[in-house]
Amino acid sequence: MSQFDSPFSDSFLMCPPEHFEVSYVINPWMEGNVAHDDKALAARQWQILHDGLRAVAQVELMPSAAGVPDMVFTANGGLVLGDKVILSRFRHIERQAEEAHFDAWFAAHGMQVLHMPDDVPFEGAGDALFDRQGGQLWLGHGHRSDIRSAPLIAGWLDTEVQTLQLVDPRFYHLDTCFCPLNGGYLLYFPEAFDQASQKAIASRVPEQRRIAVGLADALHFACNAVNSGRHIFLNRASDGLCAQLQALGFEVHQTPLSEFLKAGGAAKCLTLKLTEPVQAATVPAV
Ligand code: ARG
Repeated sequence: MSQFDSPFSDSFLMCPPEHFEVSYVINPWMEGNVAHDDKALAARQWQILHDGLRAVAQVELMPSAAGVPDMVFTANGGLVLGDKVILSRFRHIERQAEEAHFDAWFAAHGMQVLHMPDDVPFEGAGDALFDRQGGQLWLGHGHRSDIRSAPLIAGWLDTEVQTLQLVDPRFYHLDTCFCPLNGGYLLYFPEAFDQASQKAIASRVPEQRRIAVGLADALHFACNAVNSGRHIFLNRASDGLCAQLQALGFEVHQTPLSEFLKAGGAAKCLTLKLTEPVQAATVPAV
């Protein structure tokens, strides 16, 4: 039994936005937004996401801390599988102080914390996403995480890793443009990937399971979605995309997160899934 067991099957880690602000620029979304944030609005938006998720899943909270304004984006704390966590090594110095906070929280919760070499940036579940159908992991690289992390992750977690090259600086983490959903579906923005990666995605996910979004939805962070069971939480999605997801049996919860978009993050970035099940590395037939 893990300490995250609860009446709900999924558990997510969140960090309240008490110290959240845009105080530096490390992605294109932050440009022009330094000191332009509304703290009261950010707090309300975060709370609505938290309460919505709390109604369908377990939510763990870690304390926020001064001096690490982006720690609210817990997806970047590490990559969890079973009771193991691969701690992030942030590419930018501005976020490196978060590592000690995440390390302490994971260790205090009985998890085995694995560390990347000093010179191998890896930004956790911002760039590393498990396929919901099998044990395979998708790893985005090109902006933040280093492709050299792939064999280390594969060995530590005994999982197959499919790397994907990100090519648009606005979609600098995999979870900004790619979201595996229950049932083997994939919500994604194809143009954020190079041609070879688009082919790799097409070869692994059958066409009828691929939900490709257009630029407008992608820029509203529609792919930065939290999926628990049939529930999907996201900042905003077009009527067409909502209808498409609903037709597949999903319930879409739009929770506006404009204050966090100013830092380059939305729903998925604000959560870290703590209950990724260990499963066989073979992908079952769909
Ligand atoms: N300002 C943060 C950064 O640039 C935002 C992180 C968003 N997190 C995510 N998982 N996409 O690192």
